[in-house]
Amino acid sequence: MEKEICVSVKEAVEAKRIISQQLSPTSLTHYQGLSDLLGVKAYIKHENQQPGGSFKIRGGLNLMHHLKKAEVPGVITFSTGNHGISVGMSANYYQIPAIVVVPKGNSIEKNQLIIETGAKLVEAGNNFEEAAEYGLQLQKEKGYRFIHAANEPHLINGVATGFLEIIEALPNIDAIILPIGGGSELAAAVTVFKELKPQVAIIAVQAKESPAAYLSWQSKKIRQADNHTFAGGFATGAGCQLPLSIYQDHLTDFVLLSEKEILEGIGLAYKYTKNVAEGAGSASIMACLKLKEQLAGKTVVMQMSGANELLAVYRKGLATLS
Ligand SMILES: Cc1ncc(COP(=O)(O)O)c(C=O)c1O
Repeated sequence: MEKEICVSVKEAVEAKRIISQQLSPTSLTHYQGLSDLLGVKAYIKHENQQPGGSFKIRGGLNLMHHLKKAEVPGVITFSTGNHGISVGMSANYYQIPAIVVVPKGNSIEKNQLIIETGAKLVEAGNNFEEAAEYGLQLQKEKGYRFIHAANEPHLINGVATGFLEIIEALPNIDAIILPIGGGSELAAAVTVFKELKPQVAIIAVQAKESPAAYLSWQSKKIRQADNHTFAGGFATGAGCQLPLSIYQDHLTDFVLLSEKEILEGIGLAYKYTKNVAEGAGSASIMACLKLKEQLAGKTVVMQMSGANELLAVYRKGLATLS
């Protein structure tokens, strides 16, 4: 049986103990060139360097630790990328059978990364909604535990460990900027900073082409929206209840980026940090650039949340530098 659990700093501290068996803290690095460009003291939290290529593994490992204890027979999820990779990798670590359902036509590169985790990849449906429908049917047949990408307290508590690391490494920060899709990362940041450093400004960034989280935050209720961005981490068609309930009253600002600006972020991440970051992963740099006047002279942490972009997109991102 699974225990009810809440999202809290206490649970995040416990999650830190759990995931430290497999993960080392990621680096929080100051870049002078980037600081000069942005007019702030710029630090990057390198979640792009995590196993699996994104911050998601923190939540996956924490959740799977608890599901192993609850003796679930298997797990099933829907994903087009990083969430599926994280579920696959962490289920593999705890030797829990895992199925990841992706829509037909999902990127072959991302499918390959999911398959490499040891999860069973099932392609079903012509879009994400149809894939989800098929997955729910499969879940009932198999009796597996369904894992939602954001409405999962253990995922959020696991992701919160990254923000505990930031506070330990750099106690005096003024602002943190994070990308948002479903909102697990933003909810995790709010949980930690609200309690331990309430003076830190928390700023979200999403794609103009997929603004569901932005609209949900604005109206304080779940909203659906078009979902056309190329940047996987932003690509959600609806806000998610649990994260929204945590972050809705605690953001200082919310930036929306065009597709062109997201590509420019990939270029800047390479130019100034020599890292490959995916569209959502480098968006915090562009958000900081857009808020240059507001953030002038402040110490700002930008979350580089992931590195799983398609080769063709990296090429386009780097081409913005020329
Ligand atoms: C690289 C990357 N950044 C940011 C996000 C957004 O995270 P969340 O869905 O927790 O808001 C995701 C989500 O998949 C992601 O993969």
